[in-house]
Amino acid sequence: MTGTVNKLRAWKRLERHAKKMNKVEMRTLFEEDNKRASKFSLQLESMLVDFSKNRINEKTVLYLLELARVRGVEEKIQAMFSGEKINFTEHRAVLHTALRNRDNTPVWADGKNVMPQINEVLAKMRKFSESVRLGKFVGQTGKKLTDIVNIGIGGSDLGPVMANEALKKYKAKDINTYFISNIDGTGCAEVLNKLNPETTLFIVASKTFTTIETLTNAKTCRKWLVDALGEHAVAKHFVALSTNAPKVKEFGIDTENMFEFWDFVGGRYSMWSAIGLSIAIAIGMDNFEKMLEGAHTMDLHFRHTDLAHNIPVMLALIGIWNNNFLGFRSQAVVPYDQYLRYLPAYLQQLEMESNGKFVSSENEFVKYNTGSVIFGGAGTDVQHSFFQMLHQGTTPIPVDFIIPAISHNEIGDHHEILIANVLAQAEALMKGKTVKEAAEELAKAGKDKDEINSMKKYKSFPGNNPSNMIICKKIDPYTLGMLVAMYEHKVFVQGIIWDINSFDQFGVELGKKMALDILPELQENASSIHHDSSTAALIRYIKNLRK
Ligand code: F6P
Repeated sequence: MTGTVNKLRAWKRLERHAKKMNKVEMRTLFEEDNKRASKFSLQLESMLVDFSKNRINEKTVLYLLELARVRGVEEKIQAMFSGEKINFTEHRAVLHTALRNRDNTPVWADGKNVMPQINEVLAKMRKFSESVRLGKFVGQTGKKLTDIVNIGIGGSDLGPVMANEALKKYKAKDINTYFISNIDGTGCAEVLNKLNPETTLFIVASKTFTTIETLTNAKTCRKWLVDALGEHAVAKHFVALSTNAPKVKEFGIDTENMFEFWDFVGGRYSMWSAIGLSIAIAIGMDNFEKMLEGAHTMDLHFRHTDLAHNIPVMLALIGIWNNNFLGFRSQAVVPYDQYLRYLPAYLQQLEMESNGKFVSSENEFVKYNTGSVIFGGAGTDVQHSFFQMLHQGTTPIPVDFIIPAISHNEIGDHHEILIANVLAQAEALMKGKTVKEAAEELAKAGKDKDEINSMKKYKSFPGNNPSNMIICKKIDPYTLGMLVAMYEHKVFVQGIIWDINSFDQFGVELGKKMALDILPELQENASSIHHDSSTAALIRYIKNLRK
């Protein structure tokens, strides 16, 4: 494929089409076509994805599908599943899908079937998690390990945090999970203050086992444990999840206590691997495997369904349409389920670390927008924070709404009110309220002419704000697996279309390296400070305050 993506005829056609569609009101589209909702919805098992509240018509979808075709989406999907090295800057296969390949059909990477090693680690996870849950694998003093602390950051933290919260209802009553990620000592201090070393199991989760935050936190926790129970306790209270056995050993964790994964699993795609150990201990391996099954169902759908009926593909295309052609660069994700409250943070890494890129596969700087700014939070909380801007801001912000039909906590009419809210928000964002309608409403409320004139604009809503509605039956392990896999594949398809590598993350390195340069300069006796005048002055200012 030659030329940059935005030079393609399919891209140019979408640009022209967007000029027309940008003027179209969604409420008119709904008035004109009562089949719109079913035309622009897809379903997989009980999951419904309704993307009809977007500024699209049949032509938009046709043109987007054409773009997907010419960008080779179908071929690239097959390439990923068959272990080709689609992570082209790091020369690696991308096979997080193999981790949840519940059919156990062979998956090849570098001429080797990866399934036996994956199954071996899953079996080891089952054995270990069951031993911990049953109180067979106990701490140094013979006490049951009930406090599980995952020490990791980024992909080695966000997935476990999100899934542990999402599946709280499935957790064993006597197991508590804690997470230490930030280098800020407060993270460590606040967790350790609550814990008893005799009942604490530390899981050091790091793909590379070189991440400064994780290693520093792990050392602090190790010292805390050794001070209380002695050096021998380490083997009973520390396990590691990593691809790097030598580094694990060097840190002082017996590789017997290491759960392995591999370079073909990216950090932000790793909660299905050994990185999910804290989830497996908390909810049990059977439930963990149900989560893998849900993801596998989405994988099969993604791999075998034509583009037009393919949920992750359509979500990706709608995202591209909003971002590149309509110019809406942000994307809010709002789950109406309190257990999913960490999903937006999880998706923030998934989407922004994957697609926040500016160099194409042809080693050129791209000349179009890539990844969107992802943010969000749980509804209805966020209705009372950033939704004002969604309703009356100057630029539309597309939203993904997620809602389970059934709550884990059906108390009184809470869940009906929650459902009413999510549906109302999507409808209000789509329809808005014209100035004329606002004036009529004020008149109905008995306001006088002056008040109507002075208030009608403030009380109007532009509407026409795009949103997708994702409805599931209930947030159980299987559904969570489907949901997360759906987003993973959406991100992948967008990366294909933008012609970037969604699987590296060189962007996080520069700041990390510079922090290492600054560290010695913060010492009292540092001889010199070499930086721009702002950074140098800030270093001096902070040093003064710390004296
Ligand atoms: O933020 C960069 C990053 O490499 C992420 O991709 C990764 O999830 C995180 O750091 C943690 O890395 P590791 O698991 O190797 O400690």
